[in-house]
Amino acid sequence: MSSTGSTYGGSSLGAGDTHQATVPDTDVVGIAPVEAEHLVTDTAEDLSVFDAKTVERAQAIIARYPQSRSALLPMLHLVQSVEGRVSQAGIQFCALQLDLTAAEVSAVATFYTMYKRKSCGEHLVSVCTNTLCAVLGGDEIYKKLGEHLGADGKRLGHNETVGEPGQPGSITLEHAECLAACDLGPVIQVNYEFFDNQTPDKAVALVDALRKGEKPAPTRGAPLRDFRTAELELAGFWPEDEIDYRATVDGPSAAVETLRGAKLAEERGWTAPAMPNPPLPEVEKK
Ligand code: FES
Repeated sequence: MSSTGSTYGGSSLGAGDTHQATVPDTDVVGIAPVEAEHLVTDTAEDLSVFDAKTVERAQAIIARYPQSRSALLPMLHLVQSVEGRVSQAGIQFCALQLDLTAAEVSAVATFYTMYKRKSCGEHLVSVCTNTLCAVLGGDEIYKKLGEHLGADGKRLGHNETVGEPGQPGSITLEHAECLAACDLGPVIQVNYEFFDNQTPDKAVALVDALRKGEKPAPTRGAPLRDFRTAELELAGFWPEDEIDYRATVDGPSAAVETLRGAKLAEERGWTAPAMPNPPLPEVEKK
């Protein structure tokens, strides 16, 4: 491995290296390389899936920003609320709406893991397998779910779906990097809502309930939605009954464990030292 590579997730990667493990990991399958499907083509895609309502929403997103290109991230979530993924058509839709090239949109869509290349199931189940969750049982949970959701002795892998994507009861499984809830690990997210302090048995019960059409309540935060509705919310659109909806989601989302340090400091009168305030270096004007 080259010593000149950039770092990612604690490993040094050189030009031409990938994040695939060199030695197969029996518990967590390495993130698969990008598939052969290209997101930039010269072919005009059929954009009819993006109906008048979606175009109206796209325009509303663009109107939030002084420059239209700044709207790209929520636009990609809007696309996923329609398609369950970002397809070539989704790339072209964003490019047309934002006056960007397909290459520019593709560069962003393929950079962030929240934008999916393959259609997601009704629910996206993300198992944290980063260091702390992994040692607390995250690897075991991911392995157990893969075996439970797989078929014919084959484990369901990263970004694979059981059931027909988008149809009721379908589930896409992924392993995720730190989900920013290490004090509550091992954690799982379903459509980005938290299920804290998981065990393999609890995780199996959770996906079984999802497959039966149930919507178990997350440990904290908003009630559970399906993946596409969550994507619409990430794009900034709420149900018609916004006041009622806000009343259901405005509950506290912080956990006792998360606030424990701040509470102890408050009780004991501890404060952090003042931040040093050195003068900022001059930056050359471009
Ligand atoms: S390591 Fe799992 S939430 Fe941080």
